[in-house]
Amino acid sequence: MSVIRAVPAGTGSYLPERILTNEELSETVDTTHDWIVERTGIHQRHIAAEGETTSDLAVHAASRALEMAGITVDDIDLIIVATATPDQTFPSTASRVQHRLGMAHGFAFDVQAVCSGFVYATSVATQFIETGKARAAIVIGAETFSRILDWTDRGTCVLFGDGSGALVLRGEKSAGTPQDRGVLSTELRSDGAHNQLLYVDGGPSSTQSVGHLRMEGNQVFRHAVRNLAEIGEVALNSAGLAANDVRWIIPHQANYRIIASTAKKIGVPMEQVIISVDRHANTSAASIPLAMDEAVRDGRIARNDLLLLEAMGGGFTWGAAAMRW
Ligand code: UT7
Repeated sequence: MSVIRAVPAGTGSYLPERILTNEELSETVDTTHDWIVERTGIHQRHIAAEGETTSDLAVHAASRALEMAGITVDDIDLIIVATATPDQTFPSTASRVQHRLGMAHGFAFDVQAVCSGFVYATSVATQFIETGKARAAIVIGAETFSRILDWTDRGTCVLFGDGSGALVLRGEKSAGTPQDRGVLSTELRSDGAHNQLLYVDGGPSSTQSVGHLRMEGNQVFRHAVRNLAEIGEVALNSAGLAANDVRWIIPHQANYRIIASTAKKIGVPMEQVIISVDRHANTSAASIPLAMDEAVRDGRIARNDLLLLEAMGGGFTWGAAAMRW
């Protein structure tokens, strides 16, 4: 049976120049480099410059992904930006990116699923490509979480950073088997009962302010390991695959311990897990495409490798995608 698959064609990423180390943070809040490394695996994070916006980060990543794919925006019909830190309440950051990339056709919108945003956006783009509504799409995760952190709260401000990553997906006729290249399955979940464990205490209709990120870290941690392992297995099964087919897990980069526990539960060794949390910290929706771009450019990810993407974030939202490179 012939089907259209959403096949990866190029990746790109961008990190702001400024690096903020754990040592620097320990001068402003009651923390230490050793505590942060031991509990999270984070050594440093990047912070957007004054005036540098989420759309600035997104445009850099998208341009690099288009360059790798060897195509222009003329070949793209859809841009999705996964972000919880948009430039404006409206219009979408994606429409700003569309304009700045010089694209005046097709359509662009944002997806808001916080740290799961890239997996959600990949799933949405895949539906448009598989149904023939878009020839190709740029899926971007871009965030400036530094702007919504309470820099006096040591329980959260040490955990996050800014950055962006992008993936070009292109429609290709395929055989319709688990050996096809492209997105083979996506599984999304959410449960709004857990709003108060991870949220921002502001918003246009409630406080008319942007607000700051609040989190019950240890409770989020427990849910994360359980949900991520489960959804990863579901995504593999629904693609007709199993853990031993996986070449690389590309997890959301929130905490090294969450990543390691999840990989163990799924049954994939840590040598097959792409890690960037040490250098980027948690960049929310940007973390998976940032890690993916690094591993594509340094040659770890090769053609026909099976990738398992998994993420969890505020909402709660969580999801996974199986994709053959
Ligand atoms: O992107 C998805 C959403 N986010 C996550 O997935 C994050 C999930 N959670 C985590 O990564 C971890 O729970 C944290 C890294 C946030 C915290 O690690 P933990 O092992 O769960 O520590 P804890 O929250 O249970 O806190 C242990 C202690 C507390 O002190 P007491 O009450 O035991 O005296 C905290 O006050 O560590 C203290 N603490 C800190 N100490 C030094 C909390 N933050 C810090 C800090 N430096 N930055």
